[in-house]
Amino acid sequence: MEVVIVPDATAGGELIAEAMAALMRRKPDALLGVATGSTPLPIYQALAAKVRAGELDASRARICQLDEYVGLPAGHPESYRSVVLREVVEPLGLGEGSFMGPDGTAPDVHAACEAYDTALSAAGGVDLQLLGIGTDGHIGFNEPCSSLASRTRIKTLTRQTREDNARFFDSLDEVPHHVMTQGIGTILEARHLVLLATGEGKADAVAHAVEGPVAALVPASALQLHPHATVVVDEAAASKLKLADYFRATYAAKPEWQGI
Ligand code: F6R
Repeated sequence: MEVVIVPDATAGGELIAEAMAALMRRKPDALLGVATGSTPLPIYQALAAKVRAGELDASRARICQLDEYVGLPAGHPESYRSVVLREVVEPLGLGEGSFMGPDGTAPDVHAACEAYDTALSAAGGVDLQLLGIGTDGHIGFNEPCSSLASRTRIKTLTRQTREDNARFFDSLDEVPHHVMTQGIGTILEARHLVLLATGEGKADAVAHAVEGPVAALVPASALQLHPHATVVVDEAAASKLKLADYFRATYAAKPEWQGI
């Protein structure tokens, strides 16, 4: 995988937004997999700024969700559908028709997971999938010990993830226990995986994912199996990487036109 160390979250957001913009210029109807949480917000802000400045026409892009809470009422502001509509679809000037995600309100959650997995393939597969990383090493909501071959399915959140996400709710009790998430096998089918991690709290998870063995205990380590995976980290999240100097030197020597 390529590891790019950037000074801060804003720089990471800019770098990734530029890669997404370049993709949309090459392939206007690209299927972009988006993540939620705090980390990707600088990416979405940078993309929206490009659209507002007239530097990017995102009108034909298609957006798909990585995961969703199970059991939140339709339209709940913290459902990932609401978050993606608010943070990505609306700012980019897209319609709801350009957006797909797992239905967290479906009466048959298992069938809805399978249907979503099938729909992603039927849509031609994900061109670029954005990922964050949990403090426990999860990607999507594939918690530690998720099968590396897993497909979209229902998962139970760890207490650590529920505590991490409690900041979006009024209390820990309101954080759902269950989620639908693209499986690790599903995620690995995207053509380009781009993981952004910022802040010291992610440093251990990043070090295990990038420099540790591929292990179900650290789901993000599955990126090591992907032929085109880019990990963008700020200085704080890179602080436990043994090979940080090598990653810096490699990226500095890369021709500018090559992008990420
Ligand atoms: C969200 C998701 C999660 C988050 C991760 C980090 O769609 O799939 O894997 O990316 O929990 O969350 P933040 O960015 O809030 O630290």
